[in-house]
Amino acid sequence: MTPNGQQKSERNFSSMKFRDYPLPLDDIPRLHVDDPDVSRYIAQTRPVVITGTKLAEPALKWDLDYLQENIGSGMFNVFEAKDRGHKFMYYDPKKAQSNKDFKPQMQSMNMSFPDFVHRLRASRPGDNRLYLQQALNDTVGPALVQDFVHFNWSWVTAQQRKYNWGPLTTNLLLASMAGNVTPAHYDEQENLFAQVQGYKRVIMFPPSQFGSLYPFPVNHPCDRQSQVDFENPDYEKFPKFRIAKGLQTVVGPGDVIYIPMYWWHYIESPIDGGETISVTFWYKTTPISKTISYPLSAQQKVCIMRNIEKMLGDALKDPEEIGSLLHTLVQGRYEDSHKLMDQT
Ligand code: FUM
Ligand code: FE
Repeated sequence: MTPNGQQKSERNFSSMKFRDYPLPLDDIPRLHVDDPDVSRYIAQTRPVVITGTKLAEPALKWDLDYLQENIGSGMFNVFEAKDRGHKFMYYDPKKAQSNKDFKPQMQSMNMSFPDFVHRLRASRPGDNRLYLQQALNDTVGPALVQDFVHFNWSWVTAQQRKYNWGPLTTNLLLASMAGNVTPAHYDEQENLFAQVQGYKRVIMFPPSQFGSLYPFPVNHPCDRQSQVDFENPDYEKFPKFRIAKGLQTVVGPGDVIYIPMYWWHYIESPIDGGETISVTFWYKTTPISKTISYPLSAQQKVCIMRNIEKMLGDALKDPEEIGSLLHTLVQGRYEDSHKLMDQT
């Protein structure tokens, strides 16, 4: 039951096969769109699975055959994981160019949708995995335009206004093979993530667990991504990952999950399912209020830390120098205040 006494809709996902991680995980609440608690969660920037929104209802028929027929002749960004891996860790291609030592775990290719479907269907166990991630744009065919027009824009726009979000930036179409993993990262936008085909497990951590998830440095190509390999955590290098405590859920067709800005999320398609399809609704965030009140939120602290790192990066250029300057700043001076944000 929810705090206001309404029946909570449960979903049993024990029948799906996901990978195992050494993590304590509570459930992300799952509420019907008419439940008044939905707005409490969004207003407090806490994740919630919202059922019954009809946000992307016309997309519930978007299987690979329908998309192949109707998506148009545009080119699509498809990631291919290297060396038969299943992790699709995002990296910034611009930052990668200036980092000679960086070896991405995946490569990006452009192909037509039919070519993607062909490669997917021809793929055999042991072949490199593929993950299509492409912003929907004006190359889509007329049937898809009609589906898009009939998304529940009135509901989503009402959310945007109510929570004072900025403009919608992107509707990303994600077409994943079974078993693909998007490793833990945070985004700098608000996301209403609509699941339309198949199921995905979503594991999340609040921004206050920044210290336990060890993001790559801001100037690294994998900025915003956790360095910890959840399947085989290196506790010597990342000891505070032991105190990480997450939330999880499984979203299925028709579900929308609110992924607040700066919340860590780790998303995987079941190993034993078919392809999965999702559509994101990314919104720019609320402009930062001029009146700051204390204590600062974990989101504000992450934003401040990012800005300081960026400033040092611009001033010093060399990442080694940023690290040594930060160490020198803290060592023997601020070390007594080593209480992490996570422990507050
Ligand atoms: O794989 C995914 O569905 C990732 C989505 C996201 O990071 O927003
Ligand atoms: Fe994301």
